[in-house]
Amino acid sequence: RFKAVIFDLDGVITDTAHYHYLAWKELAESQGVHFDHEFNERLKGIDRMGSLDLILASAARQRQYTPEEKLALADTKNKHYQELISTMSSKDLLPGAVEALDTVRRAGLRIGLASVSKNAFTVLERLGITDKFDYVVDAATIARGKPDPEIFLKAARELGVAPADCLGVEDAVAGVTAIKAAGMFALGIGHPFVLTEADVVITSLKEFNLAAY
Ligand code: BG6
Ligand code: MG
Repeated sequence: RFKAVIFDLDGVITDTAHYHYLAWKELAESQGVHFDHEFNERLKGIDRMGSLDLILASAARQRQYTPEEKLALADTKNKHYQELISTMSSKDLLPGAVEALDTVRRAGLRIGLASVSKNAFTVLERLGITDKFDYVVDAATIARGKPDPEIFLKAARELGVAPADCLGVEDAVAGVTAIKAAGMFALGIGHPFVLTEADVVITSLKEFNLAAY
């Protein structure tokens, strides 16, 4: 019944959350901000500057950061993140990811990627799956990050498919909200208690069953 499937990347196809965690933790602590896994959860699906704002909002000394300071901090985090992902390879694909992409391909549907990460192209290359996608949204062209539907709507438009004919796949609360706001069917990867807005929630792509949605 669907004509396209639009995947998120981080946390769906590969687990980069740990690398984001390490890089944000070092950055946060350099600013006197306590950073743990719980805080990291809140940053899932949130773009780089949005994540930085959340971290700086709890900076011990509630001081104002200039736009230049913020850009420099975001850049420091990103350089660290890029170092961490530089050794990624196909062994970092989450279980079931390639199988899910191949199932969608065999069913004759279009395949899109909607990640707000400006490192998405690099990560896809390192995973060796770039050519499995018909269209990958360039995060640099997106004005409003998730939970805004912009990125999913752009993917659908570029794939030439109406939003109502798209299945979106997401692990983040903000991402599921974005899919629903785009008028698509939302498949959540994670826990139903967390992804309450999703139409269906599965634990990982190992359970992906296109015919069931
Ligand atoms: C999302 C991640 O996919 O991309 C976030 O879930 C991350 O944790 C965001 O902050 C932006 O990534 P990047 O690579 O542009 O800093
Ligand atoms: Mg994600």
